[in-house]
Amino acid sequence: MLKTAVYPGSFDPITNGHLDLLDRGLKIFDRIVIAVAANRGKKPPLFTLEERVELIRAALEGHPFADRVEVDSFQGLLVDYVKRLKAHAILRGLRAVSDFEYEFQMALMNRKLSSEIETLFLMTGMEWIYISSSIIKEVALSGGCVTGLVPPLTEKRLFQRLRENRQRT
Ligand code: PNS
Repeated sequence: MLKTAVYPGSFDPITNGHLDLLDRGLKIFDRIVIAVAANRGKKPPLFTLEERVELIRAALEGHPFADRVEVDSFQGLLVDYVKRLKAHAILRGLRAVSDFEYEFQMALMNRKLSSEIETLFLMTGMEWIYISSSIIKEVALSGGCVTGLVPPLTEKRLFQRLRENRQRT
């Protein structure tokens, strides 16, 4: 039986840290579905859902295991989406201790909602340990260099957004 994991997130935008985690996940699972969350509550995302999906798909072009990866989006509860897919686990990345509380809370809430779905955490590679979509956005939108930290199309789109923001003000 093929083992499938759902790798959920906001991916606003995808970073090389996400790609590193995907590669680690592919060593364990046969298939990974990257699931972009449509509703994230708090802050409006920098990129629309369609843009975030497009940036992930572009980042996967030429990836050696692209045939084992799917990119999708979902609305509502993650556990319902995982059940609909008949996936075996939720895959999440852990960078530093600071991620732990939030991840712990989410994993336990997901377990409370659906006891049969397990969450598997993998450690991000050391070179990506300080990277998050939020810090990438902060740096790029202030004109800082994020080359090598995000896929090329993501970098281009971040700077387009910076230019659009500057034109607006
Ligand atoms: O990349 P993020 O923002 O840390 O990802 C968080 C995400 C999208 C995985 C989480 O907010 C989520 O699963 N949202 C869907 C709604 C849901 O199921 N919430 C209950 C889990 S606490």
